[in-house]
Amino acid sequence: MSKVIKNGTIVTADRQWKADVLIEGETIAEIGENLEGDEVIDATDAYVIPGGIDPHTHLEMPFMGTTAAETFESGTFAAAAGGTTMLVDFCLPGEDGLLAAIDDWDRKSRDQICTDISYHMAITGWSEKIFDEMETVVKERGINTFKHFMAYKGALMVEDDEMFASFRRCAELGALPLVHAENGDVVAALQEKYIAEGITGPEGHAYSRPPEVEGEAANRAIMIADAAGTPLYIVHVSCEQAHEAIRRARQKGMRVYGEPLIQHLTLDESEYFDKDWQYAARRVMSPPFRSKTHQDGLWAGLASGSLQVVATDHAAFSDEQKRMGVGDFTRIPNGTGGLEERMAMLWTKGVETGRLTPEEFVAVTSTNIAKILNIYPMKGGINVGGHADVVVWDPSIHRTVSVTNQKSIIDYNVFEGMELKAAPRYTLSRGEIIWAHGQNSQPRPGRGKFVKRPAFASAHQALSKWKALNTPRKIERDPMNIPAGV
Ligand code: URP
Ligand code: ZN
Ligand code: ZN
Ligand code: ZN
Repeated sequence: MSKVIKNGTIVTADRQWKADVLIEGETIAEIGENLEGDEVIDATDAYVIPGGIDPHTHLEMPFMGTTAAETFESGTFAAAAGGTTMLVDFCLPGEDGLLAAIDDWDRKSRDQICTDISYHMAITGWSEKIFDEMETVVKERGINTFKHFMAYKGALMVEDDEMFASFRRCAELGALPLVHAENGDVVAALQEKYIAEGITGPEGHAYSRPPEVEGEAANRAIMIADAAGTPLYIVHVSCEQAHEAIRRARQKGMRVYGEPLIQHLTLDESEYFDKDWQYAARRVMSPPFRSKTHQDGLWAGLASGSLQVVATDHAAFSDEQKRMGVGDFTRIPNGTGGLEERMAMLWTKGVETGRLTPEEFVAVTSTNIAKILNIYPMKGGINVGGHADVVVWDPSIHRTVSVTNQKSIIDYNVFEGMELKAAPRYTLSRGEIIWAHGQNSQPRPGRGKFVKRPAFASAHQALSKWKALNTPRKIERDPMNIPAGV
């Protein structure tokens, strides 16, 4: 059974044009005019775009004494309804190591996912076992990204020497290190200070994580990556200080990528000063929301190319879970949601305002991250031979965000009340319609697949070549030119 998407305007990261898309099985078979198929999917007055890829989620993640309430089933359903056809979740190792953690994540996700997924593996300490297992993670399990938390002292945080060792291992294996950039020592000290001063509410969370704390860590991670000879990806870039570090590094020729979140682009720090404790606590995440000036910088970075990817960091905790931090903001589970809203929010606040072109929208929601993760052109584009992960994107469908009609199982939405000025008319994952506007049917849990990602993306290969040519070398000297030692 073939399908043909007709009468739409295809938008990719580099152009727009009118053409039909013929899908056979799971892949795109042909792009052209007047194509015929067994089933016609109408894209009149709509765009035909690559399915979104959200490279930053935490579904069912054990964290801060509880477990993120969004499941792989509800999370991937929310993704599909919002036009996202693949997400990359963070796999956190326990005492049994990296491979056992992947097995655990597989057990949780396998029967639940309705979109494709992959994992980033977190490195939360350093040992010979971790060094050895990293090779299997990359070569056998198909995971080419390793995440390092520079914050969450006493829990997930790694020290600089551990990070350097892991980055060097990434360089050898052709894997990409990711960092959560915040100076965990300073955050811990500031948390203590504000609690001692009696600032125990959610505003204390924002005060204890100022932009300088993020900028310092971003600079430090960039230096460590350069010394280790690896590209670097900085997650949830929220402020000018971190963005500036990335810009400076890129101008020097370093391969550093930056990922702002849809939340940081659209919500600001005033949320933490709300008189309603629960309202403010729902928005507690790290790094915290920032001022409008920082937001303007992030938008400019997306347009100019110094920032490449928009993610969600979807880590959704219920109201009850957030209340673990009543009287002590350091105990509020960190995280907010956005899987269903990411694409439409970015369109509304970006394309509809003229801050982004439709092509830039496609680049930062799908194509750029597919290239960074080394799965392009299989994912992230409208390419013959590539997966038919395609969205018929309709700017005439408007909706107001409401907890009453969202797919997330969390009891609130941080974008509540905002009007979204686009939505998927259809979301297709590997050729199958998994969401159709107005039909409200749920895709089959378990239909999604785990996507293996090969090591040595081309940026990695280029950097390895450059580093090999420029590595420090011993200078050979005629013994006659070496004076006798004392
Ligand atoms: O607050 C956040 N971002 N929670 C999820 C874990 C992380 O730091 O990414
Ligand atoms: Zn983080
Ligand atoms: Zn995260
Ligand atoms: Zn409207």
